[in-house]
Amino acid sequence: MKGVILAGGTGSRLHPLTRITNKHLLPIYDRPMISYAIEALVTSGVGEIMLVTGGTHAGEFLRLLGSGQSFGIDRLSYAYQEKAGGIAEALGLAEKFVSGDRCVVLLADNVFERSIRPCVEAFIRQERGARVVLSKETDQEHLRNLGVAQFDGNQRIERIIEKPERPPSEFAVTGIYFYDPTVWRVLPELKPSGRGELEITDVNNWYLTEGLMEYDVLDGFWGDAGESIDAYYAVNDFIRAHRGHKDKDA
Ligand code: DAU
Repeated sequence: MKGVILAGGTGSRLHPLTRITNKHLLPIYDRPMISYAIEALVTSGVGEIMLVTGGTHAGEFLRLLGSGQSFGIDRLSYAYQEKAGGIAEALGLAEKFVSGDRCVVLLADNVFERSIRPCVEAFIRQERGARVVLSKETDQEHLRNLGVAQFDGNQRIERIIEKPERPPSEFAVTGIYFYDPTVWRVLPELKPSGRGELEITDVNNWYLTEGLMEYDVLDGFWGDAGESIDAYYAVNDFIRAHRGHKDKDA
């Protein structure tokens, strides 16, 4: 399975910090944000990774990551997204890299407390289709900024609603997605959303309509450090309190 890390976008919710750098290079405790996504994939056994980024600071990723070997990556490729046309557009740039294999896609502003390896292993066992990873969030205001799962009576996801005015459940869709090669046929069919982007939620809803979507529910802390400046600090505080402490104990 190939890994695709998406680190483009404008980071406008973190302006003015993101006027002088890419959001995913901002520090989370003692390292740049992007390091957490890389570590999540590498420690789950995903060693072939493509990083998609854009904007004026793309060269800094090369300076930080180089060949990727010091981060435990076997093969690191880069792609450049000309304009922030959405998560699904950014994913489209990885088609040749993934080349008929399956892929796990990770948004580079997502930080997880626990290993995502069980989700990777569950997708390896899954015959076909796609997989999303949910996290229970009780704060309604937070849910309004995310994709939220709507369930039928049998605990199957019926639909994902992007940034719902009225969240249909307390289960947010995190920024880890798993796809089989069908995804490359779905992407060209997408139309831009109201915010002018190709939405990953439209891709996921396609798989749901086809009955080809499975899901996991995460244990432990999950944060989207790009959601707002408060979310950014919440992630920093969590990592500093937990990881900093663990590192010292190690
Ligand atoms: O974090 C989880 C949420 O991420 C999900 O709950 C939502 O369903 C999903 O749409 C997404 O929502 P956001 O509004 O947080 O997405 P955002 O625009 O912040 O983009 C997330 C990451 O995707 C960002 O860190 C970089 C990458 N990205 C984004 C855009 C718009 C790109 O690489 N290229 C892009 O053009």
